[in-house]
Amino acid sequence: MPVSPDPSRRFAIVAGLGVATALAACNGGKDKQGAEADISATEDLMREHGVLRRVLVVYRETASLLRADASKLDAGALGEAASLFRNFGEDYHERKLEEQFIFPAVQKAGGEAGGLVGTLKAQHDRGRELTAYVQSRTASGKVSAADAEPLAKALEGFTRMYEAHTAFEDTIVFQAWRKTMSKKQFEEMGDRFEEIEKAQFKGDGFDMAVDQIARIEQRLGLHDLGRYTAPSPAGAAPSTADVG
Ligand SMILES: [Fe+2]
Ligand SMILES: [Fe+2]
Repeated sequence: MPVSPDPSRRFAIVAGLGVATALAACNGGKDKQGAEADISATEDLMREHGVLRRVLVVYRETASLLRADASKLDAGALGEAASLFRNFGEDYHERKLEEQFIFPAVQKAGGEAGGLVGTLKAQHDRGRELTAYVQSRTASGKVSAADAEPLAKALEGFTRMYEAHTAFEDTIVFQAWRKTMSKKQFEEMGDRFEEIEKAQFKGDGFDMAVDQIARIEQRLGLHDLGRYTAPSPAGAAPSTADVG
Protein backbone atom coordinates (compact mmCIF):
# COMPACT_ATOMS: atom_id res chain seq x y z
CA MET A 1 0.00 0.00 0.00
CA PRO A 2 1.55 3.25 -1.08
CA VAL A 3 2.51 5.43 1.76
CA SER A 4 1.04 8.82 1.44
CA PRO A 5 3.48 11.49 2.47
CA ASP A 6 2.85 12.64 5.95
CA PRO A 7 0.75 15.79 5.94
CA SER A 8 3.41 18.02 7.40
CA ARG A 9 5.87 16.88 4.71
CA ARG A 10 3.27 17.36 2.00
CA PHE A 11 2.72 20.85 3.34
CA ALA A 12 6.48 21.42 3.21
CA ILE A 13 6.54 20.37 -0.47
CA VAL A 14 3.61 22.57 -1.37
CA ALA A 15 5.07 25.43 0.63
CA GLY A 16 8.39 24.79 -1.09
CA LEU A 17 6.71 25.05 -4.48
CA GLY A 18 5.11 28.25 -3.33
CA VAL A 19 8.46 29.59 -2.25
CA ALA A 20 10.05 28.52 -5.54
CA THR A 21 7.30 30.30 -7.48
CA ALA A 22 7.63 33.34 -5.28
CA LEU A 23 11.41 33.28 -5.72
CA ALA A 24 11.06 33.04 -9.49
CA ALA A 25 8.69 35.99 -9.42
CA CYS A 26 11.08 37.85 -7.15
CA ASN A 27 13.99 37.15 -9.45
CA GLY A 28 12.04 38.45 -12.38
CA GLY A 29 11.34 41.55 -10.37
CA LYS A 30 14.84 41.71 -9.00
CA ASP A 31 16.50 41.63 -12.42
CA LYS A 32 14.26 44.45 -13.44
CA GLN A 33 14.88 46.35 -10.24
CA GLY A 34 18.59 45.76 -10.69
CA ALA A 35 18.40 47.38 -14.10
CA GLU A 36 16.23 50.17 -12.73
CA ALA A 37 18.67 50.87 -9.91
CA ASP A 38 21.03 52.11 -12.62
CA ILE A 39 18.56 54.77 -13.63
CA SER A 40 19.42 58.03 -11.98
CA ALA A 41 16.83 60.53 -10.78
CA THR A 42 17.54 62.83 -13.72
CA GLU A 43 17.35 60.03 -16.30
CA ASP A 44 14.06 59.05 -14.69
CA LEU A 45 12.71 62.59 -15.13
CA MET A 46 14.03 62.84 -18.68
CA ARG A 47 12.55 59.54 -19.85
CA GLU A 48 9.24 60.69 -18.35
CA HIS A 49 9.59 63.71 -20.62
CA GLY A 50 10.02 61.23 -23.46
CA VAL A 51 6.57 59.77 -22.76
CA LEU A 52 5.09 63.27 -22.51
CA ARG A 53 6.71 64.31 -25.79
CA ARG A 54 5.06 61.34 -27.47
CA VAL A 55 1.74 62.79 -26.26
CA LEU A 56 2.81 66.11 -27.80
CA VAL A 57 3.49 64.35 -31.11
CA VAL A 58 -0.03 62.92 -30.93
CA TYR A 59 -1.38 66.41 -30.17
CA ARG A 60 0.36 68.04 -33.13
CA GLU A 61 -0.72 65.32 -35.55
CA THR A 62 -4.31 65.34 -34.32
CA ALA A 63 -4.45 69.14 -34.68
CA SER A 64 -3.88 68.62 -38.43
CA LEU A 65 -6.45 65.81 -38.53
CA LEU A 66 -9.00 68.04 -36.77
CA ARG A 67 -8.56 70.76 -39.38
CA ALA A 68 -8.77 68.29 -42.26
CA ASP A 69 -11.90 66.45 -41.04
CA ALA A 70 -12.85 66.44 -37.36
CA SER A 71 -15.49 63.73 -37.89
CA LYS A 72 -12.77 61.22 -38.84
CA LEU A 73 -10.79 61.67 -35.63
CA ASP A 74 -10.96 59.00 -32.91
CA ALA A 75 -11.72 61.56 -30.22
CA GLY A 76 -11.70 58.87 -27.53
CA ALA A 77 -8.04 58.16 -28.29
CA LEU A 78 -7.21 61.87 -28.08
CA GLY A 79 -9.08 62.05 -24.77
CA GLU A 80 -7.05 59.09 -23.52
CA ALA A 81 -3.83 60.91 -24.48
CA ALA A 82 -4.99 63.87 -22.38
CA SER A 83 -5.78 61.54 -19.46
CA LEU A 84 -2.32 60.00 -19.72
CA PHE A 85 -0.83 63.50 -19.62
CA ARG A 86 -2.96 64.29 -16.55
CA ASN A 87 -2.15 61.09 -14.61
CA PHE A 88 1.47 60.60 -15.54
CA GLY A 89 2.62 64.12 -16.42
CA GLU A 90 0.65 66.44 -14.17
CA ASP A 91 -0.35 64.41 -11.11
CA TYR A 92 2.91 62.49 -10.89
CA HIS A 93 5.89 64.01 -12.77
CA GLU A 94 4.99 67.65 -12.10
CA ARG A 95 3.32 67.47 -8.70
CA LYS A 96 5.07 64.59 -6.96
CA LEU A 97 8.58 65.11 -8.30
CA GLU A 98 9.25 68.56 -9.78
CA GLU A 99 7.11 70.67 -7.47
CA GLN A 100 8.07 68.67 -4.36
CA PHE A 101 11.80 68.21 -4.88
CA ILE A 102 13.33 69.93 -7.88
CA PHE A 103 11.75 73.37 -7.90
CA PRO A 104 12.24 74.15 -4.17
CA ALA A 105 15.90 73.05 -4.32
CA VAL A 106 16.84 75.06 -7.44
CA GLN A 107 14.87 78.05 -6.24
CA LYS A 108 16.87 78.02 -3.02
CA ALA A 109 20.13 77.68 -4.97
CA GLY A 110 19.19 80.69 -7.15
CA GLY A 111 20.92 81.30 -10.46
CA GLU A 112 19.45 80.77 -13.92
CA ALA A 113 17.48 77.65 -12.98
CA GLY A 114 16.04 79.28 -9.87
CA GLY A 115 14.87 82.18 -12.01
CA LEU A 116 12.87 79.82 -14.25
CA VAL A 117 10.77 78.23 -11.49
CA GLY A 118 7.97 80.82 -11.50
CA THR A 119 7.47 80.42 -15.26
CA LEU A 120 7.68 76.63 -15.07
CA LYS A 121 4.99 76.54 -12.36
CA ALA A 122 2.75 78.89 -14.36
CA GLN A 123 3.17 76.54 -17.34
CA HIS A 124 2.19 73.54 -15.22
CA ASP A 125 -0.99 75.42 -14.28
CA ARG A 126 -1.75 76.48 -17.86
CA GLY A 127 -1.12 72.90 -18.96
CA ARG A 128 -3.72 71.64 -16.52
CA GLU A 129 -6.27 74.09 -17.90
CA LEU A 130 -5.55 72.93 -21.43
CA THR A 131 -5.66 69.24 -20.45
CA ALA A 132 -9.07 69.74 -18.82
CA TYR A 133 -10.25 71.50 -21.97
CA VAL A 134 -9.06 68.65 -24.24
CA GLN A 135 -10.74 66.12 -21.93
CA SER A 136 -14.03 68.03 -21.97
CA ARG A 137 -14.07 68.50 -25.77
CA THR A 138 -13.40 64.80 -26.41
CA ALA A 139 -15.59 63.29 -23.67
CA SER A 140 -18.49 62.48 -26.01
CA GLY A 141 -16.19 60.45 -28.29
CA LYS A 142 -16.69 62.94 -31.14
CA VAL A 143 -15.35 66.42 -31.78
CA SER A 144 -18.01 68.78 -33.07
CA ALA A 145 -17.26 70.86 -36.15
CA ALA A 146 -17.50 73.99 -34.01
CA ASP A 147 -14.88 72.67 -31.57
CA ALA A 148 -12.41 71.52 -34.23
CA GLU A 149 -10.51 74.77 -34.71
CA PRO A 150 -10.35 75.91 -31.06
CA LEU A 151 -9.31 72.39 -30.03
CA ALA A 152 -6.61 72.30 -32.73
CA LYS A 153 -5.32 75.66 -31.49
CA ALA A 154 -5.29 74.43 -27.87
CA LEU A 155 -3.34 71.31 -28.86
CA GLU A 156 -0.79 73.35 -30.80
CA GLY A 157 -0.44 75.90 -28.02
CA PHE A 158 0.07 73.17 -25.46
CA THR A 159 2.66 71.45 -27.65
CA ARG A 160 4.59 74.67 -28.27
CA MET A 161 4.66 75.46 -24.56
CA TYR A 162 5.57 72.02 -23.29
CA GLU A 163 8.32 71.38 -25.84
CA ALA A 164 10.11 74.48 -24.59
CA HIS A 165 9.24 73.60 -20.98
CA THR A 166 10.83 70.14 -21.08
CA ALA A 167 13.84 71.34 -23.08
CA PHE A 168 14.66 74.00 -20.48
CA GLU A 169 14.08 71.54 -17.64
CA ASP A 170 16.34 68.92 -19.22
CA THR A 171 19.21 71.26 -20.02
CA ILE A 172 19.09 73.85 -17.22
CA VAL A 173 16.85 72.94 -14.29
CA PHE A 174 17.66 69.26 -13.81
CA GLN A 175 21.36 69.94 -14.26
CA ALA A 176 21.25 72.67 -11.62
CA TRP A 177 19.28 70.41 -9.27
CA ARG A 178 21.90 67.68 -9.64
CA LYS A 179 24.53 70.18 -8.49
CA THR A 180 22.68 70.93 -5.24
CA MET A 181 23.46 67.40 -3.98
CA SER A 182 26.30 65.08 -3.13
CA LYS A 183 26.71 61.90 -5.18
CA LYS A 184 25.19 59.89 -2.31
CA GLN A 185 22.19 62.20 -1.94
CA PHE A 186 21.65 62.04 -5.70
CA GLU A 187 21.61 58.24 -5.60
CA GLU A 188 19.16 58.32 -2.73
CA MET A 189 16.88 60.58 -4.76
CA GLY A 190 16.85 57.92 -7.50
CA ASP A 191 15.60 55.36 -4.96
CA ARG A 192 13.11 57.83 -3.52
CA PHE A 193 11.65 58.59 -6.95
CA GLU A 194 11.35 54.87 -7.59
CA GLU A 195 9.35 54.44 -4.36
CA ILE A 196 7.08 57.37 -5.19
CA GLU A 197 6.44 55.93 -8.65
CA LYS A 198 5.60 52.49 -7.23
CA ALA A 199 3.25 54.03 -4.65
CA GLN A 200 1.53 56.22 -7.22
CA PHE A 201 0.97 53.57 -9.89
CA LYS A 202 1.08 50.32 -7.86
CA GLY A 203 3.77 49.17 -10.26
CA ASP A 204 6.17 50.48 -12.87
CA GLY A 205 4.47 53.71 -13.91
CA PHE A 206 6.93 54.38 -16.71
CA ASP A 207 6.39 50.98 -18.36
CA MET A 208 2.63 51.40 -18.04
CA ALA A 209 2.79 54.89 -19.55
CA VAL A 210 4.91 53.70 -22.48
CA ASP A 211 2.41 50.88 -23.14
CA GLN A 212 -0.47 53.33 -22.96
CA ILE A 213 0.98 55.89 -25.35
CA ALA A 214 1.84 53.06 -27.77
CA ARG A 215 -1.80 51.89 -27.73
CA ILE A 216 -3.04 55.45 -28.29
CA GLU A 217 -0.65 55.87 -31.25
CA GLN A 218 -1.95 52.59 -32.69
CA ARG A 219 -5.58 53.71 -32.39
CA LEU A 220 -4.79 56.95 -34.19
CA GLY A 221 -2.57 55.34 -36.82
CA LEU A 222 0.41 57.34 -35.57
CA HIS A 223 2.60 54.45 -34.42
CA ASP A 224 5.00 54.18 -37.35
CA LEU A 225 8.11 56.23 -36.58
CA GLY A 226 8.92 56.36 -40.31
CA ARG A 227 5.92 58.62 -40.97
CA TYR A 228 7.84 61.43 -39.28
CA THR A 229 10.92 61.22 -41.48
CA ALA A 230 11.11 64.60 -43.17
CA PRO A 231 10.93 64.84 -46.96
CA SER A 232 14.00 65.94 -48.87
CA PRO A 233 14.04 69.69 -49.37
CA ALA A 234 12.24 70.62 -52.59
CA GLY A 235 14.55 71.37 -55.46
CA ALA A 236 17.64 70.10 -53.67
CA ALA A 237 20.27 68.44 -55.81
CA PRO A 238 20.21 64.70 -55.27
CA SER A 239 22.86 63.66 -52.79
CA THR A 240 25.35 60.95 -53.67
CA ALA A 241 23.37 58.64 -51.38
CA ASP A 242 20.27 59.06 -53.59
CA VAL A 243 22.18 58.41 -56.82
CA GLY A 244 22.91 54.82 -57.65
FE1 LIG B 1 7.78 70.82 -15.41
FE1 LIG C 1 9.21 68.03 -16.38
